Amino acid sequence: MSDQATVLVVDFGAQYAQLIARRVREAHVYSEIVPHTITASEVAARGPAALILSGGPASVHEPGAPTLDRDIYELGIPTLGICYGAQLLAQDLGGRVETSDAGEYGRTELVRHGATSLLDEFPERSVVWMSHGVSVTKAPEGFVVTAATAAVPVAVMEDPARRCYGVQFHPEVAHSEFGQPLLRRFLHHVCEIAPTWTNVSIIEDQVARIRAQVGGHRVLCALSGGVDSAVAAALVHKAVADQLVCVYVDTGLMRAGESEQVEDTFRRQFHVELVHVKAADRFFDALRGVEDPEVKRKRIGELFIRVFEEVARDLGAGGDGDVAPQFLVQGTLYPDVIESGNEHAANIKSHHNVGGLPDDLAFELVEPLRGLFKDEVRAVGAELGLPEEIVWRQPFPGPGLAVRIVGEVTRERVDVLRAADEVVVDELRRAGLLRELWQGFAVLPAVKTVGVMGDGRTYAYPIVIRAVTSDDAMTADWARLDYDLVERIANRLISEVDGVNRVALDVTSKPPGTIEWE
Ligand code: XMP
Repeated sequence: MSDQATVLVVDFGAQYAQLIARRVREAHVYSEIVPHTITASEVAARGPAALILSGGPASVHEPGAPTLDRDIYELGIPTLGICYGAQLLAQDLGGRVETSDAGEYGRTELVRHGATSLLDEFPERSVVWMSHGVSVTKAPEGFVVTAATAAVPVAVMEDPARRCYGVQFHPEVAHSEFGQPLLRRFLHHVCEIAPTWTNVSIIEDQVARIRAQVGGHRVLCALSGGVDSAVAAALVHKAVADQLVCVYVDTGLMRAGESEQVEDTFRRQFHVELVHVKAADRFFDALRGVEDPEVKRKRIGELFIRVFEEVARDLGAGGDGDVAPQFLVQGTLYPDVIESGNEHAANIKSHHNVGGLPDDLAFELVEPLRGLFKDEVRAVGAELGLPEEIVWRQPFPGPGLAVRIVGEVTRERVDVLRAADEVVVDELRRAGLLRELWQGFAVLPAVKTVGVMGDGRTYAYPIVIRAVTSDDAMTADWARLDYDLVERIANRLISEVDGVNRVALDVTSKPPGTIEWE
């Protein structure tokens, strides 16, 4: 992505930087997050088109508060400071920052005044989102103050000559009415960056990179049924066509229609060479008698690796011949890269969909999604022609339905759960909730309860409906599903799924619960 104009978002803590980076990309400008410890020479080497200093939880007066290498200001790069970033900018350039008597939190009215290049699209009064107890009370020399709030005299300050700007509020949050127009104004007009970062440009860029990386060699990709590996595979296929071999391991623990969907898309639509390993028997054997969730995960992960190694060996991987795959596609996303704190961390994460492939397989990794957020991955997938069912499929754990069965995993129980899950997902889709929810699925606690149906007593499994909303799966709220919808799901579960006689709704958020039951 080096040919693109890049905006560096300097991270001063919390989640602000990620949100800003996403908003910049929504304005069709490529952005990357860098730690605030970045030096002026590192910044200069990357040649960014602009810098945005993020907000953060600290106060500039606190001992140990994060700082910025002051030489960065001398590089002449257009800079926008947001909240903490604005305060730091003011302090470093000779302004004054003070603790306010009353901080401002939440909805606040912003009043603009005078000539301003940044607030071009703002009416005289607008709503912005504030979150601070400290604020700039005197702008540094060369800056003009262009907006204030009741409590903050310097809510926006601008130095058009140096192209340096500071805003006390958070333009990146949706509650700030003209936040996105402000960012667009800064990027497109002040910094004169052309809005060329689009799905098409991402694809073109990655295709060129993949070609340069893999040359004429073969490339292996493990498909999981999930959106990340599917989009990564589709990108690699676009780049190197039949040099790509995809491996799909059917563990017997997949959702309804998942295997067919993968076959259909990759073999029939994209004509990709697809090795479909039907390994359900082996997985059920490995899970016999296992109840402990961690043992389940371990057994599944280990067997997955063994199966994958067998396929790789059959394909001649690691050999010296020209036809042997030497590259492995991995669907690593940008948030994983940021969280690892190291842009160049190349190890495969053990929590990854494919269950963590061992590094001694001696592959070089191809990671075409390393720079992308999840929503961008979906957009790229759609642009590449992947079907909606794959692009919008909800996250699904690597160990599959096994971690949604509390107790031993048997073929019979997986069949019950798969049928139940299909009903839940179908009703959520009909209700138009699939995209809105982070996840919605069925859980099968392997206990039996007594019921009565028709004239007879039943003794069968309960199904738990689990539906959550979340932004990142780190925390989640239980979804307030409409009761009529819950009733429809419950009725269908009991009438359509053999072996089910009771339905419960999980009303646990995360924390204290996790999203999955195991
Ligand atoms: P929990 O249950 O920890 O799940 O709240 C958070 C998110 O991670 C998914 N998940 C997994 N994904 N391999 C994966 O690829 C796993 O072993 C795994 N376990 C949980 C889960 O579906 C949720 O979205």
